Amino acid sequence: MKRRDFIYLGLSTFGTTKILSQLYTKPSLKSQARAKGLIYGSSVQASYLLEDKEFAHKFVSECAILTPENELKWHRVHPNPDRFNFKDADFLVEFTQKNNLLMRGHTLIWHDSTPRWIKEIVDRKKGESVLINHIETVVGRYKGLIHSWDVVNEAIYLTDGNKGGLRHSHWLYLLGKDYIDLAFRVASEADPQALLVYNDHDLVYDIPPHQEKQKKVLKLLEWLKAKGTPIHALGIQAHLISNNAYFNAKKFRQFLADVASLGLKIMITEMDVSDMGLAFFYGTRDQVVADIYSSFLGVALDEPNVIAVITWGLSDRYTWLSEFRPRKDGTYIRPLPLDANLKPKLAWHSIIKAFDNATQR
Ligand code: G3I
Repeated sequence: MKRRDFIYLGLSTFGTTKILSQLYTKPSLKSQARAKGLIYGSSVQASYLLEDKEFAHKFVSECAILTPENELKWHRVHPNPDRFNFKDADFLVEFTQKNNLLMRGHTLIWHDSTPRWIKEIVDRKKGESVLINHIETVVGRYKGLIHSWDVVNEAIYLTDGNKGGLRHSHWLYLLGKDYIDLAFRVASEADPQALLVYNDHDLVYDIPPHQEKQKKVLKLLEWLKAKGTPIHALGIQAHLISNNAYFNAKKFRQFLADVASLGLKIMITEMDVSDMGLAFFYGTRDQVVADIYSSFLGVALDEPNVIAVITWGLSDRYTWLSEFRPRKDGTYIRPLPLDANLKPKLAWHSIIKAFDNATQR
């Protein structure tokens, strides 16, 4: 056989193997999302990755992006006025670097997880310098390493009765509504590469509080855009409930279109589906949960400006709901794509199907 034929044979064998390997690579949430130009990932706590190697391996195989569940929150990284603690956040950033994952920053300014020493500030100027210093230090430390920052989280809270539906946080008390614009501007200066996100919950259902909140969030986004605030995306947390009767696809689709019309991207940032109140038997409730993932993502991914789907946890082995909203019958809650044994559930298949049916980004 001539040398040239040998080379052809080698190339064609290599080519065939490559095609076959692509044909037979097991699908994962991240591979199917990536095939459509989308990003799939999950929140996680550092301890899960440090103490559970089986889980860490599964996380890398299913996720393209990582959101720190708590490690970048103010009380964790800046517990005292003159002390920062980046140990756990550094571990997660290094984990994403080592495993070729994207990293989210969650979250810079939030009413929750704010240490007492912040609440003791009464002077506006002091409050402003503390906010600026925090964001400059935290965002600056990871400059170029963060895909997107939840710069401000949950600033709208209707029952506080404030103008514009603004939550009565300490930041609003100290700086007024401008704290939101200021936070985005400082974050943008500290890392011009990162996508800057306003993140909030209760934006999904056709019920008065969610519909009212959608209007208030849209008004806030319009105000920020009009001011020239460097905001790039809305984060819709999407902590869904088991009663899908409240989901009105047409109205939710319109909300997404309204956000996109402001020139903003949209990230589904904390998706999970509580099976609270559903049947005792796993089979029954897993099907209901899977159907809710399908119906929500079918609408969400129809909006081309939706760029990412991130679940708040990957496996039922680790979900905030088991501590914060446990099932009344004492059985394990099953809100996520993988079960507690890290096996794909019907929800995993629903999400895969939603990515496969999504339009190419
Ligand atoms: O790790 C300590 C443990 O050492 C200690 O013994 C225990 C005592 O209470 O606390 C543990 O820390 C808890 C931490 O979760 C880790 O489990 C904190 O108290 C608890 O407040 C913290 O709750 C987090 C919550 O945000 C408040 O920050 C949840 O994990 C987290 O899932 C939840 O996530 C939020 C998003 O950030 C924003 N959107 C809503 C979402 C759900 O509430």
